[in-house]
Amino acid sequence: KTVRLAVIPGDGIGPEVVAATVPTLRAALEADGHRLDVTELDWGGERFLREGAAMPANAADLVKHSDAVLFGAVGRPDVPEHELIWGLIIGLRQQLDLAVNIRPVRAFPGVPTKVRDTDGVDLVIVRENTEGEYVGAGGVAHAGSGHDLGIEVAVHSRRAIERAAHQAFALAGRRSGRLCLVTKSNAMRYGYPLWDRVVREIGAQYPEVELETVLVDAMAARMIQAPRSLDVLLTSNLFGDILSDLAAVLAGGMGMAPSANVPPGADVPGIYEPVHGSAPDIAGKGVANPVACLLSGALLLDDLGHTGAAGRIREAVGDALRDARNHTADLGGNATTADVSAAVLHALEGR
Ligand code: NAI
Ligand code: MG
Repeated sequence: KTVRLAVIPGDGIGPEVVAATVPTLRAALEADGHRLDVTELDWGGERFLREGAAMPANAADLVKHSDAVLFGAVGRPDVPEHELIWGLIIGLRQQLDLAVNIRPVRAFPGVPTKVRDTDGVDLVIVRENTEGEYVGAGGVAHAGSGHDLGIEVAVHSRRAIERAAHQAFALAGRRSGRLCLVTKSNAMRYGYPLWDRVVREIGAQYPEVELETVLVDAMAARMIQAPRSLDVLLTSNLFGDILSDLAAVLAGGMGMAPSANVPPGADVPGIYEPVHGSAPDIAGKGVANPVACLLSGALLLDDLGHTGAAGRIREAVGDALRDARNHTADLGGNATTADVSAAVLHALEGR
């Protein structure tokens, strides 16, 4: 079988971590007798400066026939943020209707973290990706009067909650059989009680999964105090944004955090991307940590059914990271992106 992959390297360290990932995906697939067919798209900041748009208007149509999209990162100092964030990555997620964001966090042995006792941490945050506090509804009133109001309205729909819930229950069923819903229904009276109700209803279709509901403030503390007690978490856009950055710290930080934007059905490709941005402060130096992108590639293969290849990539990453000589600067080491990539490829060949 051939995997048709659309690749958007983007800006800054995006192309660096993507270049470190594609050969690994290819090697893992070829070892199983499959092929990788890559279409590279030059979307991003440079294209914006050249053509006035970060991606073509029919971008979604151009990637629709791929099996998956691997995205690096966008952002450069000489291009307005919204042209790349909204004009590319958020725009593309919306065009493809990728309503759910999956963010696994796994502590690899040997990787130093700023939090103590993270051995064995292995959790996944399933984040609703389109609404909640981030719909942009609201406005300002009495501006400049000294009694100014900023009003931000959160919108939670049954449809969006259901889509995220199905993904989370299915994932929990494949893992430990435990799902933790994170809301704030004691202080908020409409949106989060709807989450609680709808998720409980959907849960009836997954009798093999045990559902627990935790308030977000308690979850923040538990994530640091007892992260091993967590497996699959389901939460809203805002809480997912905050908790996933917190959780990434348990695994060594942003350079270690992969993500998947997944469609509700199999009719359009998902977008797989490291959580981090284009890191202009280290771009061009060849020192970016490629692990977040490599693990995003493993998620991609998982979703396409190549679970053996995906598992071997994770094991190879684990093998490489056990040796501190393969730690990049963000992990306190002095390995280059190419060193890590070569070590992972080498470990993969041994598996
Ligand atoms: P950032 O994630 O690019 O960088 C934050 C810090 O983490 C920097 O010190 C950076 O050097 C470090 N870092 C990030 N990834 C790393 C890696 N793989 N290896 C080693 N160190 C790493 O976030 P920042 O600085 O807020 O944003 C920079 C640009 O990226 C902005 O233009 C922003 O809009 C864009 N951005 C794009 C995203 C995307 O494409 N999905 C997501 C987040 C930010
Ligand atoms: Mg964030």
